[in-house]
Amino acid sequence: MTMRAVALGVGHYLPERIVPNAEFEKTLDTSDEWIQARTGIERRHFAADGETTSDMAIKAATAALAQAGLAASDIDAVIVATSTPDLTFPSVATMVQQGLGMTRGFGFDVQAVCAGFVYALSTANAMIVSGQANRILVIGAETFSRIMDWTDRATCVLFGDGAGALVLEGRDGGGTNDDRGILAADLNSDGQYREMLYVDGGVSTTGESGKLRMQGNPLFRQAVGKLAATAEASLAKINMPSEELDWIVPHQANIRIIQGTAKKLGLPMEQVVVTVQDHGNTSAASIPLALSVAVEDGRIKPGQVLLMEAIGGGLAWGSVILRW
Ligand code: UT7
Repeated sequence: MTMRAVALGVGHYLPERIVPNAEFEKTLDTSDEWIQARTGIERRHFAADGETTSDMAIKAATAALAQAGLAASDIDAVIVATSTPDLTFPSVATMVQQGLGMTRGFGFDVQAVCAGFVYALSTANAMIVSGQANRILVIGAETFSRIMDWTDRATCVLFGDGAGALVLEGRDGGGTNDDRGILAADLNSDGQYREMLYVDGGVSTTGESGKLRMQGNPLFRQAVGKLAATAEASLAKINMPSEELDWIVPHQANIRIIQGTAKKLGLPMEQVVVTVQDHGNTSAASIPLALSVAVEDGRIKPGQVLLMEAIGGGLAWGSVILRW
């Protein structure tokens, strides 16, 4: 028998305030037309004043627990993927524990920027398979609106806020690709690409949280190849042809990156979950948000095979294959 990290429930939270592209036309030399044509984004949600990453993470986690039919006391560990924590420390995960009323187990944050949820899922899988925890809440939560330079049209129109959460539980499987749960994971990073996407502040440098800086076009040119390569690597680990994938649930940075990756993998866009038009790029929250939306509307059904893939600052990139 093989231990598998099986998904029991998913949930999400989006802040109330929705900002359409047209809003940026008032202050920047940009247009709804440019933003939609180059990115696929039509609108995004921004957190209210005082609304934090942990506030959103707690709401998403509560929804995921409800879908799983579990109480917070049933959870052994909380892993939060975020690059926009409430405070430098403690972790958002410990704030989620407190918010949910959990007084046992453990929590920590994972920081791999837009690839954070894939890194957190892979970490949770390793902990479940090795017996360190049986039920893990894996959350992606971000308030990227707090690190935007509102004068930089090349970045501030791209990002949004939100949170998504997934409950995983260790269950015995048969050891084949027919098992439910996480079947494969592949992680990569390469610090030589740091200048392509970073925040220009931090604790040991400026003492300020800083603003996001991005070389969009060079990053775009790295993205499709690296995403397709990590997807192929995960598929190869379990000897699964890409035709066996039912869905790609990609990081939602840009519709053209999503389309390019699907094309390289030979999957039609009908099998790709796309939420970039409504959420923008929510970094580590984008995959669990898309997953939650597609489970909620009935597109993703039990037994189907999902490929999740993401790339972001670092650069860090990776993929996970999971049978729902
Ligand atoms: O989540 C982490 C991963 N993130 C990504 O993977 C993002 C990757 N990059 C991208 O999605 C795209 O590169 C962008 C959407 C950021 C930009 O699209 P692009 O097709 O690569 O455009 P570009 O950067 O080459 O810029 C083309 C033009 C430039 O003007 P010039 O120099 O040709 O006159 C930009 O100044 O578009 C201009 N531009 C804008 N124009 C109107 C840049 N931003 C805007 C804007 N509105 N908001």
